[in-house]
Amino acid sequence: MAEVFPELTEDVLGRMSGAPPRLREVMTLLIRHLHSFVREASLSHDEWRVAIDFLTRAGDLCSDSRQEFILLSDILGVSMLVDAIANQSGQGLTDSTVLGPFYTGSQRELNKGDSILLRSEEGEPLVMKGRVADADGAPIAGAKVEVWQTAPNQLYDVQDESQPQGNLRATFRTDEHGEYEFKTILPVSYPIPDDGPAGQLLSNLGRHPFRPAHVHFMISAPGYRMLVTHLFLQGDKYLESDAVFGVKPSLVVKPALRDGILTVTYDFGLASLSQETGTPK
Ligand code: BEZ
Ligand code: FE
Repeated sequence: MAEVFPELTEDVLGRMSGAPPRLREVMTLLIRHLHSFVREASLSHDEWRVAIDFLTRAGDLCSDSRQEFILLSDILGVSMLVDAIANQSGQGLTDSTVLGPFYTGSQRELNKGDSILLRSEEGEPLVMKGRVADADGAPIAGAKVEVWQTAPNQLYDVQDESQPQGNLRATFRTDEHGEYEFKTILPVSYPIPDDGPAGQLLSNLGRHPFRPAHVHFMISAPGYRMLVTHLFLQGDKYLESDAVFGVKPSLVVKPALRDGILTVTYDFGLASLSQETGTPK
């Protein structure tokens, strides 16, 4: 079948000569794919109106504490794709995963071994510890280790007025051996915010909104690529169907009993900025 209105696409593409090269490159691809999508789907006026209304509602919902477009990017797999392009994996390097919308900037700095709880919680006590090293295993002292997770009620502090703000999040520095350690509680699986357009789309697609239990890590040190990742708990029933596609096998851990307390020992490997090689995966 002949392509519908091909000259329109060429007309739109031809009006970007004033754009900087990268903007022109990206917009050219976007317009080509968008026009192809509209043609292939034979989109009707009604369907396009539904899409515009959907995006309008997503925008209306956004605030300092709610980012519906990040959720949409996450549930459509775009966040993980952008991350895979940005982060090359390699021997000795820890896999990255999505940042998510609940990182709230640097938190109070605690000492090695401290608890990240700001109130007592029902959860099972957990110790998380290990080393931060470069790809060759050399320890990185003074690395900034930021962590955050939900409370047992499945909510982050910023979603929940009853929690002290800063509960279950903190910043640590690795010691001279590159070691970090903190006390927390076992994370739980939880639904991403699903009371808006992203949740409605999930439901219409027959998908659930749950993420498997995890603790977030953001690890940075001068001269190294920042690592944004999580550690997931083995056995979680949502590991195979994470609503945002963030699970990688290398990030799944099994707590072990040490001195009577559940303990996760996990070493992180950071890419040196001067030696970045390899291909995106
Ligand atoms: C999170 O793990 O905090 C998260 C990631 C993506 C969407 C919603 C939440
Ligand atoms: Fe999370």
